[in-house]
Amino acid sequence: MPQINVGDISLNCFDAGGGPPILFVHGFPLDHSMWRQQLDVFAASYRVMAPDLRGFGQSGATGGTVLMEQFADDLAAMLDALSVTEPVVFCGLSMGGYVGWQFFKRHRSRVRALIQCDTRAIADTPEGVANREKLARLVLENGTEPVAAAMLPNLFAAATTPIRQAVIEETRQAMLRTNPEGIAAASLGMAARPDVAAELATIDVPTLLIVGEHDRISTVDEMRSIATRIPGSVLSVIPDAGHMSPLENPDAVNKAIAEFMATIR
Ligand code: MLT
Repeated sequence: MPQINVGDISLNCFDAGGGPPILFVHGFPLDHSMWRQQLDVFAASYRVMAPDLRGFGQSGATGGTVLMEQFADDLAAMLDALSVTEPVVFCGLSMGGYVGWQFFKRHRSRVRALIQCDTRAIADTPEGVANREKLARLVLENGTEPVAAAMLPNLFAAATTPIRQAVIEETRQAMLRTNPEGIAAASLGMAARPDVAAELATIDVPTLLIVGEHDRISTVDEMRSIATRIPGSVLSVIPDAGHMSPLENPDAVNKAIAEFMATIR
């Protein structure tokens, strides 16, 4: 996959298909492969781009704190480097969704529509911030293993089938191979992310919200409250899925995305 120079680092980006562009932005602490059930399906009708964010997957990393604003600016620089001038449908999951709010705010003219999956608009509580700081220290001192152990139990609905168990194991492997410096920097960046709840009313592009019915991190109620604030937005609740709905119930997620894309073509 091509490495795209965005200034101080380069980003690894899946880029396939043709037609209106969709940008898939992964969650924490994962990489573009979390969209593997979507990429080829949508590349049949759209140009599909799915980068590894700064510090994740095969992309370059920087230490310290990486703000959601920085991730958003990296994506805009990546689109410039790829000569993508047509506004994109931005599809982010969880941390990818936090980046989505900032991408909309900072690069409004580049956004055709938003698909925000299993994400939140409010900032962290003080306890949440403390947990992020703890996780940043933990991963720098002890590596990715304890991060995977701490995070995995909250990401998925019950592992009742062998297929689900395989998906969980693949996700664990993605976490284990992530750069600890990248995880720490994004964790501190999420801790510092702004509360955007009051800005949701200004979103004036078509917006689809997707949430797994069993999501324990960004619950259905929380996503419903985001939906009520974004004018004209649509909420799709995905059965038999938790926080990782695109991996857990790809058929239902792909149907929701395809139907939404049909309405904006
Ligand atoms: C994610 O899936 O990106 C994370 O759960 C986001 C978070 O920790 O808030």
